[in-house]
Amino acid sequence: MSSTALWHPFADMFEVKSSSFCVTRAEGIWIYDDSGRRYLDGTASLWYANAGHGRTEIVEAAAAQMRELESYFVFNDYTNPPAEALAARLAELAPMPNAKIFLTTGGGEAIDSAAKLARQYWSQRGQPQRTHILSRGNAYHGTNGMGTSIGGIEANQAGFGQLVPETGRVAHDDAESLREAIERIGAENVAAFFAEPVMGAGGLYPPEPGYLEAVAKICSEHGILFVADSVICGFGRVGSWFGVERWGLQPDMITFAKGVTSGYLPLGGVVVAEHVAEPFWNEPGRVFRHGATYSGHPTVAAAALANLDILEREKLLSRADELERPLHEALLQVADHPAVAEVRGGVGLLGAVELTAEQLQAGALGTLQKTIRELGVIVRPLGKALAVSPPLIITEEEIGLIGKAFAEGLDTLA
Ligand SMILES: Cc1ncc(COP(=O)(O)O)c(C=O)c1O
Repeated sequence: MSSTALWHPFADMFEVKSSSFCVTRAEGIWIYDDSGRRYLDGTASLWYANAGHGRTEIVEAAAAQMRELESYFVFNDYTNPPAEALAARLAELAPMPNAKIFLTTGGGEAIDSAAKLARQYWSQRGQPQRTHILSRGNAYHGTNGMGTSIGGIEANQAGFGQLVPETGRVAHDDAESLREAIERIGAENVAAFFAEPVMGAGGLYPPEPGYLEAVAKICSEHGILFVADSVICGFGRVGSWFGVERWGLQPDMITFAKGVTSGYLPLGGVVVAEHVAEPFWNEPGRVFRHGATYSGHPTVAAAALANLDILEREKLLSRADELERPLHEALLQVADHPAVAEVRGGVGLLGAVELTAEQLQAGALGTLQKTIRELGVIVRPLGKALAVSPPLIITEEEIGLIGKAFAEGLDTLA
């Protein structure tokens, strides 16, 4: 018998309809279930609670803005002060000079915006045949139309009929595979290449040394737009604002979401390099006919600004830098466990423990996730691994609790 009307994303509702895990409140790095029991939020919810939970400063900024102007659209010539202030601030923080900011309500919408803008850019530049969009095997770019089509996790594409044509995948860790695809399709037909700096939902894969620099170079050699999908990697997760700075990258576009508000309200967007914006901004009549109702929502923008204040004031970007090694070391303690195939991490406050093929076949990933939750720590099954990405305010001692829960949980596996 069904006990809920809520259809959970990515869930087997046959199981979940009668056994869900209800989170009722949160504070700092801790979340509480409906029986009042607390858990360490080892995943910062879905990779986004960078500043941690219960920040009244963000709540008050949003409430104050709601009293003044809760919402108004920014289509055509309409604007509002928080949307303007947020765009100016993000443009200032971005690694590309004089960038423009297109605001959305989440990461998937940011991906659709960037992919459509890439195609439209080439059309405006007199090369309308440049429509192919390349991305990496195992990539995750959300579940909107474009994001589904350019994603590299095959299960997320099955059974949806024909997806957006002229998209293709290359090997996730081999820059030469991108070069070969470009040569096969013809650079003159390729609009853009999308890549997550650290691959997240595909199983948490930091880039191979030199990989990101190499693909950025290949794109620039072929005049192809390089789009960094920093939806996870931005706002401190890998120690910088847009998740690309540590590799010295200056992408043509950067998609962002999640940590921009630490999740207090839904927001995403695209940082657009000056030369990509140029045909639309410097010539009359060239309209990007795209945008969602809540783009530039003033209350959401006010929450984002308050969140950026916290990230800056508490130096949470360098905190992620300081903590990436302790987190990696905490996970490496289980590297020799017989159920563990690999431990990944060391790039930002992100890590994963991959199980052996034998354990995966026996269904251990789901079981272990639940066992670790029973031990008081939230972790997430992704690909062949359990991933962690705690709030940036976590301490080294609390990171130790994540390592301990992994060790104890693994020992319960047969
Ligand atoms: C790299 C990446 N891109 C895009 C998205 C989609 O974002 P959203 O779920 O806000 O649509 C996600 C979501 O996890 C993501 O990890």
